[in-house]
Amino acid sequence: MAKQPKTSADSRVTMTELVLPNDTNTLNNLMGGRLMHWMDVVSAIAAQKHSNRIVVTASADNISFKNPIQLGDVVTLEAKVTRGFNSSMEVYVEVYAENIPSGTKFKSHSAFFTFVAVDQGGRPIDVPELVPQTPEEQELYDGALRRRQLRLVLAKRMKAEDATELKNLFFDPTKK
Ligand SMILES: CC(C)(COP(=O)(O)OP(=O)(O)OC[C@H]1O[C@@H](n2cnc3c(N)ncnc32)[C@H](O)[C@@H]1OP(=O)(O)O)[C@@H](O)C(=O)NCCC(=O)NCCS
Repeated sequence: MAKQPKTSADSRVTMTELVLPNDTNTLNNLMGGRLMHWMDVVSAIAAQKHSNRIVVTASADNISFKNPIQLGDVVTLEAKVTRGFNSSMEVYVEVYAENIPSGTKFKSHSAFFTFVAVDQGGRPIDVPELVPQTPEEQELYDGALRRRQLRLVLAKRMKAEDATELKNLFFDPTKK
């Protein structure tokens, strides 16, 4: 039976963490690995909500660290599914860092994760479609196909010549 389609709102998750001494490096900034762990956890919860299944992380797109998050900051992570494919889902996660005493808050990171829904035996299992509801969700939905092709090409799971959506981004097929 076809699964009931879902929206991004169905999978939206917000997670809040306080940066404690055990989370920091010797400069009193949040360790990158700790932040990636939190991003993985919040994204996995979003993927579970979309699929109502156990999920495993298949990949995380490039995560770069521009501004440090400091000891005592409050970190808010927001995740939602952008698109469901067959057994895999793309999740978009955004990270905000807030220093409550000084009243400052900034968006520090964002990333895309891919999760695969699996059955009790660890075999991939189909997930519901996602139906975008807003222009921003539509943009994320459209881009998800290109990003999927890029990561599958990089993982050597797709031939570059089959990545048609990706190619269209670089080469205008009407100008052949
Ligand atoms: C992810 C995993 C379930 C894929 O299993 P598989 O036997 O390769 O299954 P398939 O080839 O049928 O691929 C299943 C889906 O995974 C996707 N996938 C596989 N590798 C991927 C990658 N590197 N990036 C993005 N998606 C990937 C495929 O595109 C496919 O998506 P679709 O069903 O939506 O088309 C399997 O590789 C696995 O269990 N990996 C370990 C997961 C894990 O332990 N994560 C924690 C990291 S420590």
